[in-house]
Amino acid sequence: MMDDQKLFEMRWRRSEADLLQPLRAIYGTIPAFEAALKALLVARWNERPAALKDLDLDRDLNPDWFLSENTVGYVFYVDRFAGNFKGVAQHIDYLQSLGVTYVHFMPCLKPRPGDSDGGYSVMDYRSINPLLGTMEDFQVVAKTLRHKNMSVCVDLVLNHTAKEHAWAEKAKKGDKKYQAYYHMFDGQAETLEFEKTLVEVFPNDAPGNFTFYPEFKKYVWTTFNEHQWDLNWANPDVFLEIVDIMLNLANKGVDCLRLDAVAFMWKQLGTNCQNLPEVHDILQALRAATRIAAPALIHKAEAIVAPRDLVTYLGVGKHRGREGNLAYHNNLMVHYWSSLAARDTSLMTYTLTKHFPDSFRNACWATYIRCHDDIGWAITEEDAAAIPGVSGPGHRKFLADFYAGQHASSFARGGIFQENAETGDRRNSGTYASLAGLEAAKTDQEIATAIDRILMGVALMASFGGLPLLFMGDEIGLTNDYDFIKEPAHAHDNRWMHRPKMQWVKLSSTQDKIFEGTKNIITRRKAVKHLAANNPTRILDAGNAAIFAFSRQSDEGPLLALFNFTEVWQNVPLSFAMSHGITQFHDALSDAAVAAPGGVLQIPPYGRVWLV
Ligand code: GLC
Repeated sequence: MMDDQKLFEMRWRRSEADLLQPLRAIYGTIPAFEAALKALLVARWNERPAALKDLDLDRDLNPDWFLSENTVGYVFYVDRFAGNFKGVAQHIDYLQSLGVTYVHFMPCLKPRPGDSDGGYSVMDYRSINPLLGTMEDFQVVAKTLRHKNMSVCVDLVLNHTAKEHAWAEKAKKGDKKYQAYYHMFDGQAETLEFEKTLVEVFPNDAPGNFTFYPEFKKYVWTTFNEHQWDLNWANPDVFLEIVDIMLNLANKGVDCLRLDAVAFMWKQLGTNCQNLPEVHDILQALRAATRIAAPALIHKAEAIVAPRDLVTYLGVGKHRGREGNLAYHNNLMVHYWSSLAARDTSLMTYTLTKHFPDSFRNACWATYIRCHDDIGWAITEEDAAAIPGVSGPGHRKFLADFYAGQHASSFARGGIFQENAETGDRRNSGTYASLAGLEAAKTDQEIATAIDRILMGVALMASFGGLPLLFMGDEIGLTNDYDFIKEPAHAHDNRWMHRPKMQWVKLSSTQDKIFEGTKNIITRRKAVKHLAANNPTRILDAGNAAIFAFSRQSDEGPLLALFNFTEVWQNVPLSFAMSHGITQFHDALSDAAVAAPGGVLQIPPYGRVWLV
């Protein structure tokens, strides 16, 4: 048997440079800090349970485990899904029946009381939200899932803590050590300088990026809500604290940490304080730290930013293979909705071709169509301008109107989230089903069409190249929950309209169709090796703006995926498929041959095919 300490030293040597180089770049060389960091990694490694050390080895031998076509994720609020962690244990068979292998519990660490931004305002990273259970309850569920080959993801908010966190409480009392954990200013002058180049995240709910506290006479950096205090990552003590927290969670059985709001972690005057190079240094160092002391763990970055910046979170340039293992492909999501509304995929094809490489090293997208957040229309002026007749402001206005159900051609029902009076920017809320037309559908035909829109999106995220994430309730077409306004802590935030409670009573026939359709797509994904996330994805121009196309390059040969974003039949010449190496004309999604009368592939309204 390999001696445990020897194994640690080997892992340390493997990742030492990945860890220390970026840290030295941002903090300088501080021997005491580096010694404390190594001692911390040793201590947490020594505490790591034997079963998880086995998992570490397993994943060392198969580092691309999460890139497999077998991986399918499901995301839910523990209380909305099953009441609490004990309740989750009762519904594992449901997850299995759907084919889920990766479960993301929405924020489940102890939040501040009252409004906690859906749990993203955390006062204790070492306890589970008492309303959901105890750390033991969590560990029991995590272990049960592991035994059933499902991995567990939890949120870790890196950019801010709740103002009730113990560090913040000490800072309020004047403790200098803890004041240095946050960004605090004595006067307003400096904050006003920063404000000149900052943007507003919640312009309606929480205008401005700083809050003045008369009790201790300081301005505190609060990018999101007043109760969320931004951490000062320029302080190496913050780095040590967070590494400790990450390893503690990993040792409880967490497989993936969703690192929340990472784009905002570094501040520099004269910039918008998002996506700065130091953020990538920190994220690389965090990854190296956990790779040494909890190698089974992977990191998922949540950075909902413009395409050019988004791609950097999966590790590019000197960070290649060293940064996030997963990052949300918010651009794929945005363009699914944009193309659906426009009945035109030109902008989608252009943007996805222009900004994104076709593969990453030991990393892939988290693909999704809906999540717990609003949809921000991350479409830049330059990209929009590349498409004749499209402009950034005009298209963004169209989309916001369309998905609020305020446009003549709209099938959607949703809400406007955070209207920025200054920039005119508006985002949208709404469930997958409501935005895709199910809520407004009256006739059988309209219902069938809405179902097809939903399943086309599921087939897209299941094949694009990445780890697909289903958001709870979307697999049964839950529509908007307008009762959120009855809940005082939620009423001000209409994102709660798309966070309904799970429905466990019998499904309607429409819901059943969505569930069975979703399940079938998952089953087919798992049967098609081409779809493993480490096979490159190449966006193609099918020569028909109604059709979005890409190919997947695999050892099994190519796969050509086609999606019709309109409610009418569309043609794609067979020669197009043949020019991309397709010879058999077998649709791996329906697992049937496709007919191509007259050398033309006919794709039905909202049709989706995976040709091999
Ligand atoms: C992330 C979360 C969002 C939250 C924000 C602040 O963007 O997804 O729900 O409001 O971070 O924590």
